[in-house]
Amino acid sequence: MSASHTVHADAATIESPEDVARKARTSNMLTPRFYTTDFAAMDRIDVAPIRAEWDKMMAEYEGDNNHDHFQRTPEFADEARAQMAAMSPELRAEFLDFLISSVTSEFSGCILYNEIQKNISNPDVKALMRFMARDESRHAGFINQSLKDFGLGLDLGDLKRTKAYTYFKPKYIFYATYLSEKIGYARYITIFRQLERHPDKRFHPIFKWFERWCNDEFRHGESFALIMRSQPHLLRGANTLWIRFFLLAVYATMYVRDHTRPMLKNAMGLDATSYDYEVFRITTEISKQVFPISLDTDAPAFRAGMTRLFELSQRMDAAKAQGGLVGKLKQGALAVAGFATFARLYFLPVQRHALPEQVRMAPAW
Ligand SMILES: [Fe+2]
Ligand SMILES: [Fe+2]
Repeated sequence: MSASHTVHADAATIESPEDVARKARTSNMLTPRFYTTDFAAMDRIDVAPIRAEWDKMMAEYEGDNNHDHFQRTPEFADEARAQMAAMSPELRAEFLDFLISSVTSEFSGCILYNEIQKNISNPDVKALMRFMARDESRHAGFINQSLKDFGLGLDLGDLKRTKAYTYFKPKYIFYATYLSEKIGYARYITIFRQLERHPDKRFHPIFKWFERWCNDEFRHGESFALIMRSQPHLLRGANTLWIRFFLLAVYATMYVRDHTRPMLKNAMGLDATSYDYEVFRITTEISKQVFPISLDTDAPAFRAGMTRLFELSQRMDAAKAQGGLVGKLKQGALAVAGFATFARLYFLPVQRHALPEQVRMAPAW
């Protein structure tokens, strides 16, 4: 939560490629991180229990139905130029913030999957990681082209060298990455469907690419679902407490972030709150393929907690801007309140369900 001020302030001051690089490098609670993990443990993954579904999925990766998708058409550049010129400064700032966090998060997947495949010999996992790195590299490159249209391209090689890496044990990588792939799918498809209904609100051509794009993210999520289902101990007992933690952390981060930049959604004719709850609904529905619990995001106490987290983050911004001893004291009190709110949300009743026999799902939203 202490991060929202930084995010907001940065969004308003992106003027040069150096600003973009600095923003992409920033690691805090609301920005995408880079990860590293235990490669030896990744090498030991055995997909035998889910072999049939695994092989089918690998054939899809091999078929590479999006190999021609991430190329810009001549119309893209023309349309982007015209629409960029028409953006208000506020929308431009939020759109840039969106592009920078998206390219960082796509590239984060690219680096992680690529490092895993380079450091292991397990043929199943190695092949999977190579395919996913391929996809994420296309995604990151495609977004970066839209940043370059603004004269604000990101030097991905430099980012790879200079951004901090967070170590996560494999099981945390599985929970977190599964969720980020699936929530990424839900976010992209919800935007795509909205703009399909309201093409006049499509303020940049990149959104036209989201439909086929999000199918890649959906499939990446399927891969982690299969890996987790091949190790059932990750999905029961004390591990459900971790699942609960990651679900809440991912949902809360998204809620605070989206509400910090509401104009982006407003320009699409969406409001941040209903957009977020639609994305949670889709993600929750999908995640039942692998998680035996889900958060009740319709519960009034859940919604009140999310609202409070956002309010606290706004007040944190104000306290930081105020500075001085009083500002510092306020920040401390707000951090405690934020922690207490998160804890209350964590202990709300969850929904429980049995896992389906067949793991794989179709991207049907
Ligand atoms: Fe991606
Ligand atoms: Fe992905």
